[in-house]
Amino acid sequence: MTVIDLRSDTVTRPTAAMRAAIAAAAVGDEQYGEDPSTNELQARCAELLGKEAALWLPSGTMANQVALRVLCRPGDEVITGREAHAGWHETGGAAANAGVQIVEVGSGGVYTCEDFVAAIKPAGLPVFPPTTLVQIENTHNRGGGLVFDQAEVERICAAARERGIARFLDGARLWNAAVASGRSEAELAAPFDLVAVAFSKGLGAPGGSLLAGSKALIALANRHRRMLGGAMRQTGLYAAAALHGIDHHRTRLAEDHANARALAEALAGSAAVQIDLATVQTNIVVFRLSPGAPDAATLVARARERGVLLNAFAARTVRAVTHLDVSAAEVAAAGAVLRELLG
Ligand SMILES: Cc1ncc(COP(=O)(O)O)c(C=O)c1O
Repeated sequence: MTVIDLRSDTVTRPTAAMRAAIAAAAVGDEQYGEDPSTNELQARCAELLGKEAALWLPSGTMANQVALRVLCRPGDEVITGREAHAGWHETGGAAANAGVQIVEVGSGGVYTCEDFVAAIKPAGLPVFPPTTLVQIENTHNRGGGLVFDQAEVERICAAARERGIARFLDGARLWNAAVASGRSEAELAAPFDLVAVAFSKGLGAPGGSLLAGSKALIALANRHRRMLGGAMRQTGLYAAAALHGIDHHRTRLAEDHANARALAEALAGSAAVQIDLATVQTNIVVFRLSPGAPDAATLVARARERGVLLNAFAARTVRAVTHLDVSAAEVAAAGAVLRELLG
């Protein structure tokens, strides 16, 4: 049975060409700043993201934790959209590693400048935690791959800047946001002090993320990466895969978006599915199961028996993600299986 794995865009395996790039990578000890491939990746991404400097990290989770440690002090408060990865999928790391508390505003992962400003704790009163950071996730994972409206991003970040509040962009899927919005990664990252991007998702690399920002912030991030145990040695093997992904898999993300759209439209035709097609803007399809339909765990188990792998995101919420390793035909076949299972 062919398995169509729609659990995540992280399940991709390096292509033959990416493996060849990894095999040919020039490497050195990154802790001495001597890994040529990592240096090249950092310089390339700093330019792509319009920042002074960049730092490779092993994972997106570590990039988020390091950003929080660089931009906040223990006891500070961070404002994010609902169900931000940093609060929901990092097993309490924001609290344990950075000592911050997260306040969620808005709905579906996005929020307005008014939502943000209303949530800022009054300054100067010792009973309140200081609000020192605003974070935006673009695209938003649990929000179903939503692209954050850039005009709103700019308003939020301007309001933060006026109040001396730092700005962090969790852009693990910023590549998708750029393709979907037609704006460059640098434009999307411009209002932020630090931006995180991932290479292990839509770009198809086996691992690695990166933080970009000013030289001073990246120097601090380097220290925190080491403190968290994320300083590695011949990381050029990963960097070569990331460079290959940037060169060969970035523009093709549009195909993943079209496949996700087709899947969402197929599902929307079923009475058992509740989905807002307007939220399907990139490669993630999050849908709810109507009352009377099987719950998420049941649907996921039945789909698995038919060779379609999905993620149960909540009791009645399911996520499907398109990526490099699933073709349009496979996504269509998965959609047909789900329609059949849902009646
Ligand atoms: C928005 C977002 N940020 C951060 C991460 C963490 O990345 P990693 O799995 O590399 O730790 C993810 C992973 O799915 C994500 O979706």
